Amino acid sequence: MHPDVDRIIVTKEEIAEKVSVLAGMISKDYENRNPLLISVLKGAFIFMADLLREVTIPCNVDFMAVSSYGKKSATTGAVKILKDLDCKVEGRHVIIVEDILDSGLTLRYIINYLAGGKPASVRVCTLLDKPSRRQADIRPDYTGFIVPDEFIVGYGLDYADRYRNLPYVGVLKREIYS
Ligand code: IMP
Ligand code: MG
Repeated sequence: MHPDVDRIIVTKEEIAEKVSVLAGMISKDYENRNPLLISVLKGAFIFMADLLREVTIPCNVDFMAVSSYGKKSATTGAVKILKDLDCKVEGRHVIIVEDILDSGLTLRYIINYLAGGKPASVRVCTLLDKPSRRQADIRPDYTGFIVPDEFIVGYGLDYADRYRNLPYVGVLKREIYS
């Protein structure tokens, strides 16, 4: 285990098993609908890559990159779009693929933004959910694991752009960020 990690909460094997279950559900629910999977960089890129390889139906993939507007975004979730989608979402069945759903403010902003493009439907698939921290009323349609209110890293999730490469999800030692 990495010395900065206090404990592992989801192992590499548990992630792989769950990713396969989620991809199975999506493949069944979206048969003949050619869904468009969208994730917001960078946190969800590993989950997206693994999920996609287990999806067995035709689908497309796109990415957005956003940055928050600093302090103000802590309450409104307003973000600046650094990289917009390449695809049009009009008439498409969109699945937002997230690493972790925390306050839900960023996702609420993105869902509203996508709605402007008139998609046929929008659902959310998140690997991790911290429901105790929710501020916006966002309920994921597909959830991997419910996690406690602690700072988590690994499998794409970072602290100061580090630890994304850990193959498991773990709690970062408090002394690293306090
Ligand atoms: P929200 O708008 O508060 O839901 O922010 C969600 C985003 O914050 C996620 O996509 C992550 O990038 C980041 N985030 C939230 N909680 C954690 C955590 O415990 N570790 C690492 N990143 C996190
Ligand atoms: Mg992040």
